[in-house]
Amino acid sequence: MSDNSDLQKIKAAAAALDYVQDGMVLGLGTGSTAAHFVRLLGDKVKKGCKIQGVPTSIATQELALSLQIPLLDIEKVTHIDVTIDGADEVDPQLRLIKGGGAALLREKLIAHASAHMVVIADEGKMVDILGKFPLPVEIIQFGVAITANKIFECLRATNCEGTDIQLRYKSDGTTPLVTDNGNFILDCHCIMIPDPIGLCAQLNAIPGVVENGIFPIFANTNRTLVLGTSEGAKVVELVS
Ligand code: A5P
Repeated sequence: MSDNSDLQKIKAAAAALDYVQDGMVLGLGTGSTAAHFVRLLGDKVKKGCKIQGVPTSIATQELALSLQIPLLDIEKVTHIDVTIDGADEVDPQLRLIKGGGAALLREKLIAHASAHMVVIADEGKMVDILGKFPLPVEIIQFGVAITANKIFECLRATNCEGTDIQLRYKSDGTTPLVTDNGNFILDCHCIMIPDPIGLCAQLNAIPGVVENGIFPIFANTNRTLVLGTSEGAKVVELVS
């Protein structure tokens, strides 16, 4: 990651503060861009802004608590006003790949329950076709070989250019990474995903799959992209 891309992430995070209003319930994303946003939100809360946060991962929960951002108990949440989160890839229709930070399941659940999702990203995340970034698929720990084989068949059936699938490991390289939900992640090197909507549906129909990192446009959630660029933040709106 270049300094420039980090600066772009900060610009996007700062511009996303415009979507925050007193009284809102906010979904708080995961990853380095979302962490910039949470830190800026912490400053706003210190200055008196009254919001309640719903974190998408244990890491974000810990960060938000360290900044004294009030958090809601997830079991008491049914509706979220705005979720602000990063992305690994964004296509021209604002469809996303997420899950590079292994938080895709909670991120998707919370974004899907939100009236509005604001995606914050640097320019390097924009692609013409999703798939160069390995697609994360969260799976249960039982029957990994069976699930991986079904996923392979799915990638082939939906004409993905690549079909290599890797179990994600922790940074020690020997222990499989376990998500906040107690599951494994398979990273699928699709290279190009010609039919992200079809692939998303087919993956989620496999019994061992819990969720995958394709974020289609959700029917009841407006989506906005706030892109950090060298010239400032650029906003692309999509109203569903
Ligand atoms: C976390 O699981 C991801 O979905 C992140 O939102 C995504 O990986 C973007 O991360 P960065 O903001 O660190 O690039």
